[in-house]
Amino acid sequence: MTKLLHYMVLMVLIWPSKLTGAFQLFGFDSRVRRAQQDQCKDQEYLNGGICCLNCPAGYHLISPCTKEGQRGQCEECQDGTYTEHPNGLKQCFKCTQCPTDQQIKKPCTHTQDTECQCLPGTFCAPDQPCEVCLKCSSCGKGEEIVRNCNATANTQCKKIQSNPDVPSAKLSVIVQVTVLAAALLIIFVLWVWRRKIRDSLRNQPIDQKAGELYSENCLTEEKGKTDTQKPSRSNLMLSGQLEDKEFPKLVPVNGEESLKKCFEYFEEMDLDYHKRFFRHIGIADNVIKSKEHLHCEDKIHELLNIWMEKEGRKGSLNDLLTALLALNQRRTAETIKENAIHHGHYLCEY
Ligand SMILES: *[C@@H]1O[C@H](CO)[C@@H](O)[C@H](O)[C@H]1NC(C)=O
Repeated sequence: MTKLLHYMVLMVLIWPSKLTGAFQLFGFDSRVRRAQQDQCKDQEYLNGGICCLNCPAGYHLISPCTKEGQRGQCEECQDGTYTEHPNGLKQCFKCTQCPTDQQIKKPCTHTQDTECQCLPGTFCAPDQPCEVCLKCSSCGKGEEIVRNCNATANTQCKKIQSNPDVPSAKLSVIVQVTVLAAALLIIFVLWVWRRKIRDSLRNQPIDQKAGELYSENCLTEEKGKTDTQKPSRSNLMLSGQLEDKEFPKLVPVNGEESLKKCFEYFEEMDLDYHKRFFRHIGIADNVIKSKEHLHCEDKIHELLNIWMEKEGRKGSLNDLLTALLALNQRRTAETIKENAIHHGHYLCEY
C-alpha cells in the first residue's frame, strides 16, 4: 500500500514537466509562443523565434525576415483586398460588398474597407447594428418636418400649432381687449364723475363752497349757534347774503400788529367794491375821495389805517371780514382769512 502511494506522489510531481516537454517538442505550446511574441516590439511579428518588422498598411507578407529586426518581403494588396494596419499577414482582407439595401459611400482601397450606407429613403442608426435599413417615417397629420431623414437618422417631426390652440389664442386676445376696454371705461367714468363734482362745487352758493374748502383749516360754525352768542355780528350777516354757516371768529396772535400785517391781503378785493367796502366800515365819503388819487394798494392801506385809528382797540379783522361778507364778497373774505391763519397772524376761535 505505502509503495503504491509513493509512486502516485512521484507521478504527480513528474507528470506536468514531462507533459510540457512533450508539447514543446511538437511546437504546440501557445503559452511559450505568446511569451516570445511579447518580446517583439509593437511594429514587429514573430517568425521562427526572431522578431521581424511589419509590412505597412496596404501590404501583406510574402516571406518573413531571416534576421532580427528586418522586414522580410512584402507585397501590395491586390484590388478588392486591403490591410488597414501594419501587419505580418500572409493575405490581405477581402473588401466588403455592400448589401443590396445599401450603396457604396466610400469605395474600398488597399488600406480601407468599403463604406456602405442605406439607400435614399431608408436609414440605419449608427449606434445600432445595421442588419436591415429601415424605411424613413413621414410626418403625420398636424405634424411638420423638423429634420429630413438621412442615411443615419430617421425623419424628425413636431406637432404644428394645432387647431385646438387657435381658439384659446383668440380667447386670450378677446380677454385682453375686454380688460383694456373696461379699464378705459372706468377711467372715463371717473373723469366724468370728477368733472361733475367740480362743476357742482362751482355752481354751489359761494358760502357753501368756501365753507367746504376751508373747513380743514378752520371749522365753520353753524349759524344758529353764533346767532345767540353774538347778536351784533349776526345783524351784519343778515344784511349780506344769507348763509347756512357762519364765518369762524379769528383771534389775533399779536394784537394790532397782526391786524396791520393783514392789510395787504385786502389788496385782493374786487376794485368795484372798494368804495362800498370802506363806506361799510364807516369811512366817510370825502375821506375815501381824498385817497382816490393814490395807487390802489396805497389807497387800501391808507384807508384801513384811518379805519384802525378811528376804531381804536375794538377794531378787529373779524369786522372787516364781516363787512366783506355783507357785500357778498365771501370769497375774498375766505382768502384773507386763509392768509391770516396761514401766515400765523390769526388763530381760529373754537
Ligand atoms: C444625418 O442627420 C443627423 C442628425 O441630423 C446628423 O447628425 C448626421 O450628420 C446626418 N448624416 C448625414 C450623412 O448627413
